[in-house]
Amino acid sequence: MRIVLLGAPGSGKGTQSQLLVKAHGVPQVSTGDLLRNAVSKGTELGLRAKAAMDGGKLVDDATVLGMIRERLKLADAAKGFILDGFPRNIAQAEALQTLLAELGTPLESVVLMNVDLKILFKRLTGRRICQDCGRVFNVYTSPPPSPPHGANCVAAPKLIQRPDDKEDVIGERLAVFEALTKPLIPYYRSLGLLRIVDADADVDTVFKGIETAVQSGALGAGARSGGGIRG
Ligand code: AP5
Repeated sequence: MRIVLLGAPGSGKGTQSQLLVKAHGVPQVSTGDLLRNAVSKGTELGLRAKAAMDGGKLVDDATVLGMIRERLKLADAAKGFILDGFPRNIAQAEALQTLLAELGTPLESVVLMNVDLKILFKRLTGRRICQDCGRVFNVYTSPPPSPPHGANCVAAPKLIQRPDDKEDVIGERLAVFEALTKPLIPYYRSLGLLRIVDADADVDTVFKGIETAVQSGALGAGARSGGGIRG
């Protein structure tokens, strides 16, 4: 499986990536997670990225492309990958095509996860993350269960909110998606890679939609299928 999950902030890319990792045994490559990791370690790259991330802007292409190049060259990515949050503009998409051609691992599909704007906003303002295990919850759609949700987590986990999930920053992130990331839709459609999934449904239904969409990509067909999936 070599796919891109393309979608606005809060469309469920991270949630679905986790399910795909379990089902297919290929790594999730999330530029957001790689960048947050660098920020929390206080590396030079992290310090450079922090201001852009906190303001809801994109981190510069050179930084992100350098990170992706290193990550996709690791051994586990040879068997496949789920790109989550990358690429995010045309320059990144073109650089990815070149890199994957060099590595001999072309994309099979790009899955666009479509979600209504109002729902995106609610998902993002409601997202909370367990400080102990990193598991993602949502105060509206999937509150943390009690007693503890994980072996190493305390009964009342400390739930944190991402700094960029504050209302004013969410507006900027959605605007950046509209202006810079949406042009990837015609770009990937023209390459015959685009599959569109209705991601306004519950997590399991969305997962089934992605699985169906991805299968049509792996077969190399420009196939169109029902059940909320379009190409
Ligand atoms: P990144 O971490 O990639 O954030 P994002 O794209 O804005 O996406 P999110 O992580 O917010 O949402 P998601 O789609 O993964 O949704 P999730 O599954 O968590 O990027 C952060 C920042 O890093 C960027 O703003 C930028 O600064 C920088 N950056 C990253 N990549 C970059 C790049 N390539 N170039 C330049 N800069 C880059 O779900 C959200 C919530 O909804 C959760 O609470 C979840 O539980 C809930 N939920 C999920 N699915 C459902 C469902 N089906 N039903 C109900 N609730 C659901």
